Amino acid sequence: GGADAEASNEGGSSDGVITVGFSQVGAESDWRTANSESMKSTFSEANGYKLIFDDAQQKQENQLTAIRNFINQEVDYIVLAPTTETGWDTVLQEAKDAGIPVIIVDRMVDVSDDSLYNCYVGGNFKLEGQKACEWLKAYADAKGINELNIAHIQGTIGASAQIGRTEGLEEAAEKYGWNIVAQQSGEFTQAKGQEVMESMLKQNDNINVVYCENDNEAFGAIDAIKAAGKTVGPDGDILVMSFDTVKAGIEMTMTGDIICNTECNPLHGPRVEELIKKMEAGEEPEKIAYVDEGIFTFGDEVASVSIDGQDYEVTKVTQEVI
Ligand code: AHR
Repeated sequence: GGADAEASNEGGSSDGVITVGFSQVGAESDWRTANSESMKSTFSEANGYKLIFDDAQQKQENQLTAIRNFINQEVDYIVLAPTTETGWDTVLQEAKDAGIPVIIVDRMVDVSDDSLYNCYVGGNFKLEGQKACEWLKAYADAKGINELNIAHIQGTIGASAQIGRTEGLEEAAEKYGWNIVAQQSGEFTQAKGQEVMESMLKQNDNINVVYCENDNEAFGAIDAIKAAGKTVGPDGDILVMSFDTVKAGIEMTMTGDIICNTECNPLHGPRVEELIKKMEAGEEPEKIAYVDEGIFTFGDEVASVSIDGQDYEVTKVTQEVI
């Protein structure tokens, strides 16, 4: 730190190149791959950036190391997509002490002092969960399905995407009298999703809904359901619900293998760039910005859902959506 660091920081920005250190969660899902690509193509040399990209392989300790490296390298901005919400206070204080602005992207951090990061942009995961569950309620009513026995495959425990989507389901289950017959993490991966579904099917013969917290878990769950000799889809044994709407996820929503897919938009590169441009211009960006996200379904039984007095349109997946 100290005077030398300031001097070299000034030198860094005088050539017009902005150095961004991005600590990425990992490569656990199609969503994550799309997110990494969005960041890499936005923060390219051609656009006037130097991107230092670190893949933490879903381990927070790797992210702590990456951030400390970014501080040592005196980057202009630190961008953090946190694995889980807690445990960031110390390292973010170090970044603050070094005078490096921090942008949180995708998932949120839970810190005692909000000034430890400058701003956040990402999905509203609780709202995503609520949208999915209000859709399920309306769909079950429309179809006359009286009893819901739900297998719940969670994301990485402690990640905002897991916390919000789980809260959405648990609150709806309580409110509507649904049974959550099994609940376990699939770590947001296809392999774990399949493994978890396999064991849930062995222990429960009455599952008629599986609520997967992302598309890759749904891909694995569908494989496990089919391997167990059961069927998915509107007329099948089990309704598969999912989040993300990655390309393969939307394609499966078009066939009904996934009955309802709530969007989580991964294209955060341009959004983060806008925040950086604001800060470069000396403006203070909005502290917390949520991205607008849709609900995509196989059928057209439900046209919209309402949450806290706000209506959200439901889109039936057709060739045009793909
Ligand atoms: O934080 C976003 C979530 O992380 C996505 O839903 C999931 O696919 C990814 O791994």
